[in-house]
Amino acid sequence: MSEVTVVGLGPMGAKMAATFLAAGHEVKVWNRTASKADPLVAQGAARAGSAADGVLLVVSQIGYQAMYDSLGDARLDGKVVVNLSSGTPKELREAAGWVARRGGTLITGGIMVPPPGIGEPGAYTFYSGPKDVLDRHRATLEALGEITYVGTDEGLAMMYYQSQLLMFWSSLTAHMHAVALLGTAGVSPREFLPFAQETFTSLGGDGTLGFVKSSTEDYEAGVYPGELNSLHMQAVGLGHVVEALEDAGLDSTVPKALLRLFERADAEGRGGEGLGTVIESVRKP
Ligand SMILES: NC(=O)c1ccc[n+]([C@@H]2O[C@H](COP(=O)([O-])OP(=O)(O)OC[C@H]3O[C@@H](n4cnc5c(N)ncnc54)[C@H](OP(=O)(O)O)[C@@H]3O)[C@@H](O)[C@H]2O)c1
Repeated sequence: MSEVTVVGLGPMGAKMAATFLAAGHEVKVWNRTASKADPLVAQGAARAGSAADGVLLVVSQIGYQAMYDSLGDARLDGKVVVNLSSGTPKELREAAGWVARRGGTLITGGIMVPPPGIGEPGAYTFYSGPKDVLDRHRATLEALGEITYVGTDEGLAMMYYQSQLLMFWSSLTAHMHAVALLGTAGVSPREFLPFAQETFTSLGGDGTLGFVKSSTEDYEAGVYPGELNSLHMQAVGLGHVVEALEDAGLDSTVPKALLRLFERADAEGRGGEGLGTVIESVRKP
């Protein structure tokens, strides 16, 4: 079994360290607040002498500045840093240079499960950076979940991760608005659940409401047919939704921002096209 040092013992890092231990690896742990290592040491992990103590450093912290703060001036000759923290793609690319100047190699990642999902079936992580280096540590990293390699550009793993989070946050916030709106008429969240589930399931499916797939085809073609449901009609409908939220005394900041985007696409002359045409306005702010 191989050696791995986990740097950062928040909910994610602590679960990663426990998962590596359960898979039989030799695990060292390091955290800025040292006491967070105690439960893992009790489970068999060793206390790392510093954040750079090890050959394979798996980092899980609030952001990339934390990695700079933790590693400080340490040399990283021959070391592989796998950073699974959140950041911007630009920060990740810069971080690759920072690690390289210290003699190490950075693999970036975006892990797509919350702590309880780490190491469980269905868990996966987007990775980018040099593939040969990732492959050398594949057997160890697979303990966390499936490895989804997306390319050499160190920013790319984060772009995939953020793309997934964009959909996660936006769709669940839409669900919050829906629940709040119905709640003003006495409908409980549980009463709405089957309808919410139907929408989420259909959107990702292959049927008539399978908009994720059909929009993908439109984006590929750059053509957005709107004869049956024009963007203009949907912008008017969204305006009614905003009014309904306001009439109900609810926050409408996010739906209003969405309405502004739809109205801009309409004003740009594409109201007769389908909803997918909004992507053209997203591309040209
Ligand atoms: N939780 C999730 O569901 C989830 C899912 C996917 C991805 N992620 C990502 O995984 C990463 C870790 O998330 P998390 O939920 O475990 O906790 P977190 O609150 O994002 O990060 C906590 C960790 O960051 C460390 N830290 C913060 N500032 C630091 C600094 N300046 N120097 C050194 N260490 C510093 C903390 O050390 P101290 O203990 O000393 O404060 C702690 O170890 C994040 O980037 C997050 O976006 C989280």
